[in-house]
Amino acid sequence: SIRCQSTSTEKPKTRNLVDNASNLLTNFLSGGNLGSMPIAEGAVTDLFDRPLFFSLYDWFIEHGSVYKLAFGPKAFVVVSDPIVARHILRENAFSYDKGVLADILEPIMGKGLIPADLETWKQRRRVIAPGFHASYLEAMVKIFTDCSERSITKFEELLGAQALNGGREPIELDLEAEFSNLALDIIGLGVFNYDFGSVTKESPVIKAVYGTLFEAEHRSTFYIPYWKIPLARWIVPRQRKFHSDLKVINDCLDGLIMNAKDTREVKIMTNMFNFRKKQMLKSCSSGTTQTSNLQDASLLRFLVDMRGDDVDNRQLRDDLMTMLIAGHETTAAVLTWAVFLLAQNPSKMKKAQAELDAVLGQEKPTFESLKKLEYIRLIVVESLRLYPQPPLLIRRSLKPDVLPGGYQGSPDGYAIPAGTDIFVSVYNLHRSPHFWDRPNDFEPERFLVTKTNESVEGWAGFDPSRSPGALYPNEVVSDFALLPFGGGPRKCVGDQFALMESTVALAMLLQKFDVELRGSPESVELVTGATIHTKNGLWCKLQKRSSSS
Ligand code: HEM
Repeated sequence: SIRCQSTSTEKPKTRNLVDNASNLLTNFLSGGNLGSMPIAEGAVTDLFDRPLFFSLYDWFIEHGSVYKLAFGPKAFVVVSDPIVARHILRENAFSYDKGVLADILEPIMGKGLIPADLETWKQRRRVIAPGFHASYLEAMVKIFTDCSERSITKFEELLGAQALNGGREPIELDLEAEFSNLALDIIGLGVFNYDFGSVTKESPVIKAVYGTLFEAEHRSTFYIPYWKIPLARWIVPRQRKFHSDLKVINDCLDGLIMNAKDTREVKIMTNMFNFRKKQMLKSCSSGTTQTSNLQDASLLRFLVDMRGDDVDNRQLRDDLMTMLIAGHETTAAVLTWAVFLLAQNPSKMKKAQAELDAVLGQEKPTFESLKKLEYIRLIVVESLRLYPQPPLLIRRSLKPDVLPGGYQGSPDGYAIPAGTDIFVSVYNLHRSPHFWDRPNDFEPERFLVTKTNESVEGWAGFDPSRSPGALYPNEVVSDFALLPFGGGPRKCVGDQFALMESTVALAMLLQKFDVELRGSPESVELVTGATIHTKNGLWCKLQKRSSSS
């Protein structure tokens, strides 16, 4: 059960004393009024009873847009207000780093963009962001369609096999697992030209990737960072496994990096270098194929070719690992929830299929035709509104700051000391009754309508015309009430990649199949780590579309 108390409600005397003392201390340290911030007190069991973001939402409705969450000795400021989010993510972005998140991810991603300190981040973002140029994205669309086609073929074969055995029933599949494999194949090819082939087979590298993702998730939800204890990596079996998984992936990435450099440095390569490269590539070649350099449009190729020989291998590996993790689960999750929502809204599924028939007919999407799939794109963004990936953005203040006094906030804003841990709850922003009509309803059409709310001080409203050429409704048109890919300088670097990828995958699935949930929507339980996913898979019934053109 959840105990949640605001400062104004009745509390045991001792707790009041402790709270007052701690508020006084915080006030003293911050020189501000953090102490007057409403407090939600969670029991540690709240972390395990249900996904944390559900509790954060209830406390948001009870305490307002900025409150303090205290878990024993740990405290977080929870932000659910667009003006405050805008301040932290954009206007004063460089006064914050990734805090707890960086602590968790650094052992896996090293100095990759997500956990990187500001100095490293500035350098690497400048180098990596131009890699997502228009011709790269155009080449990626071919990868998205090729990989999605593999999944479609697999489903068709399963249906065919069932028909051969006399069955006329739909096939039953865990689509979350299928999307996860699809997203892994795409990210491998798009980022380092490596074909995991996970839609059709298993390999030690794939197992190691899933093992590492699983551990990243475990660490992000486990309260005590026991893995930091010296010797834990040798004594605790799951930590031993994690380090051996990491080694498999690192060797594979190192081999790919050396190969990319090799095809650039061919003249000066020594025999020694060749030998080392062969050894490393062996570790990731089991049953998978590496696309030839001639067809290689990957980001790794760009980073090596454009930046010359001076790129540090360790840094490159951290960059690739970061993009592998950042781009895999997020995309798999948005596809999972898009199907979950569509399956409950058959009329919207039909509307999407009508758009596909009109724009594509039986053709595959192309870079050009993709732009015309507006409704599918809005479905993707609406799915990200209802199930944002990740549901919380994590920051820590590097210096004292004053949060703007936004809606439901203190009129003068709250002063926070350096070292304050903050959760920007994207889930709360996206379902806030102050900014969205019927916030829990799946309504992709909502993005076509301008919405203002004059009672919300400092919020410019939702206005699609504010960012005319934008590919999707974003933080600019919504003035930070909608953050499908974050906002400010640390906004997702792969947003267009991800949006096009999800649009292609969803388009190709709905072009061929009708999808239903196998059980009730309520039976699909949620769990969270870095992203929101299901507890036991998204089991669906798939059958050939009855009315495709
Ligand atoms: C950052 C969401 C796909 C690479 C972010 C952030 C969000 C996000 C919200 C900001 C995190 C923060 O401010 O703390 C998503 C979603 C995706 C997706 C919802 C899929 C639907 C991708 C893909 C790639 C990628 C495909 C790479 C190919 C990154 C990187 C960062 C990032 C490198 C860190 C950027 C920085 O700090 O400069 N993503 N992402 N993401 N994303 Fe994505």
